[in-house]
Amino acid sequence: MSDQAAKWYVLTGVDDVPPGSGQEFTVGGRIVALFNDDGEFHAIDGICAHQGGPLAKGKFKDGIVTCPWHGWQFQIADGTHCLNPRICQTSFEVKIEEGGVFVRL
Ligand code: FES
Repeated sequence: MSDQAAKWYVLTGVDDVPPGSGQEFTVGGRIVALFNDDGEFHAIDGICAHQGGPLAKGKFKDGIVTCPWHGWQFQIADGTHCLNPRICQTSFEVKIEEGGVFVRL
């Protein structure tokens, strides 16, 4: 998708995803996993590259989410797989505006 086609979508309020947690959203035809890393929000493709597990429902610690299905681990900042950097979840730009969390798809 070109930059010009990218759009900002509101996901939720900043207070609705507490620090240290993740939440899944369906927006713009995609599943997005949003994580709050001590007040810093990151968004990656919510469907695991392995077999489609729900990454937002995985354990999330120290900037790394573990897929609940078979344990693949990804950096939430850029979607990179922790053991194989050639595997990468799409990551999305996030902004906070007027108390809302927005993601650019
Ligand atoms: S579906 Fe995520 S590790 Fe298998």
